[in-house]
Amino acid sequence: MCGIVGYIGDKDVASVLLAGLWKLEYRGYDSCGIAVLNGGEIDLRKTTGRLMQLQELVDKTPISGNVGIGHTRWATHGEPTSINAHPHLDCKSKIAVVHNGIIENAYVLREKLIKSMHIFKSNTDTEVIPHLIEENFQGNLLDAVIKSMKELEGSFAIAVISVDDPGKIIAARKGSPLIIGIGENENFIASDIPALAGHTKKIIILEEGQVSLITQNDVKVYNLDGKEIKKEPEKIDIAMEILDKKGYPHFMLKEIMEQPDVIRDNIKDKWTNNSINLGEKFKMSSSELASITRIIIQACGTSWHAGYVAKYLLEDIARIHTEIDISSEFRYRNPVVSGETLVVAVSQSGETADTLAGVREAKAKFLKILSFVNVRNSTIARESDNAIYINAGPEIGVASTKAYTAEIFSLYLFSLYLARIKWTLGDNIVEKRINKLKELPDKMEKVLEKKGEIEKISEKYLSAKNFLFLGRGINYPSALEGALKLKEISYIHATGYPAGEMKHGPIALIDENTPVFAVVTNSSVYDKMMSNLEEVKARKGRIIAIATEGDERIKEIAEDVIYIPDVDEEISPILTALPMQLFAYYVAAKKGYDVDKPRNLAKSVTVE
Ligand code: M6R
Repeated sequence: MCGIVGYIGDKDVASVLLAGLWKLEYRGYDSCGIAVLNGGEIDLRKTTGRLMQLQELVDKTPISGNVGIGHTRWATHGEPTSINAHPHLDCKSKIAVVHNGIIENAYVLREKLIKSMHIFKSNTDTEVIPHLIEENFQGNLLDAVIKSMKELEGSFAIAVISVDDPGKIIAARKGSPLIIGIGENENFIASDIPALAGHTKKIIILEEGQVSLITQNDVKVYNLDGKEIKKEPEKIDIAMEILDKKGYPHFMLKEIMEQPDVIRDNIKDKWTNNSINLGEKFKMSSSELASITRIIIQACGTSWHAGYVAKYLLEDIARIHTEIDISSEFRYRNPVVSGETLVVAVSQSGETADTLAGVREAKAKFLKILSFVNVRNSTIARESDNAIYINAGPEIGVASTKAYTAEIFSLYLFSLYLARIKWTLGDNIVEKRINKLKELPDKMEKVLEKKGEIEKISEKYLSAKNFLFLGRGINYPSALEGALKLKEISYIHATGYPAGEMKHGPIALIDENTPVFAVVTNSSVYDKMMSNLEEVKARKGRIIAIATEGDERIKEIAEDVIYIPDVDEEISPILTALPMQLFAYYVAAKKGYDVDKPRNLAKSVTVE
């Protein structure tokens, strides 16, 4: 999704801005631009397409100055053209603005501003911001931004510079994240922490409704009444190596291969002194947990699939009624709840707008909230009463892989933790299950060793136009996730289904041109799955099966079989995810697609 950077200091501003934007490149974008204060004017470069094109523009006509802002845009209002790219300017080209989010009352404001003789150049919602600031400007940029913010509806993070009030950047947040990086004799702003890598480890995270005045040697934060708020900088650990592919052709493949270590490290962190330790942000007392009678999990995309797996786990292991909801539905459906309902949010980025809105909706209903989040200090983590960090490490590929398995892992541990409190499992059984978990990373490695085999299988299916993914029970969400992985990076249409539902419609799709990817591992529903696959085979469907080592029967039905080690059904989704991730990866890579940055997608979806 859109990325913001800003710099004020003695270094070459264009280089710093471009370097920051490169670090946000993984988030997905379709146009980009920078604006620099150059004496009495704003020097602007913007373009459609990739940062390389922006770099070429800057190389051709260099920019100098010591204050600037930059942006990568993921189009919402208006096509990805260079006119619609940010930064946007006011009528006199004296104010430049970059913006993440959506201005919901842009149409009304635009009409009003046009009546006041403002001239608009783009089709974006963003362009109302510089014009509004121009309208409100009376010599002090901070005051004009604060005044304008009160008129803007929607969610946004903005950075603003002005020729008439130079030597400063004004940054403001309402709904979308914004971070200030504190340097020595220089300061930075960024929408995401990776953009600050290599510059500083001291940051200030702007909270809702806060505005910051950033000069070369000072950072001040204000509320919307213009009252200063004292904020101590926090120290964070951003390592440069997170942006290194470590010899892999893509981040996605690197992140798939990292999964055994992610689970290994998580076991070390979360199983200490023979008990489950859910981390420093998890503070729910046993009596609080014991009183929970219902859980609603809300999340989006891959995190929703991890939450779906957890529905099976929580109901089966902890015997708690659990619902799973897509956040964009949950936030508007006004569910029937009571004080004993726990709302669980699952989010890799911790910034997904719909999931965050779900958290706020739950708060408004006075419900307890627990989030499972990867990015520390992200908005969802901060706004939730309790959070469990899934500790997957930075995930750069837009297609989520290691965060998915780490989410399932942490949700599984939480189910065991709750089971102990609810007395549905005894200590010795929990310990036995943890011992089984400890074997999981080695088993994951065994599956990943099959990547060459999976690559070969993928080559047979490159021309397929449609895929069906089937699973049952706890591996039904695995089928949903397998289908999502394939469609989002290879652009092949894929649908996940519970195999038992086939005969109620989707079976009509089966023919020799619609491959079926099936999870048919050792489980309580193995025989049922086999019967469903017989139905596919009878209609000439081509089957790729994930099966358990030693299963000879599956070979008679499936054209391709990927064997995985035997594993307890309840943790099997962590293992069955891997062949599907690799399959999707190889199909997309062989089709020549930009695997890490699939079209139209963004790493964290900070708009509704
Ligand atoms: O950061 P989140 O986990 O909240 O993101 C949710 C979805 O946007 C995300 O999982 C998305 O579906 C990915 N592209 C899946 O690979």
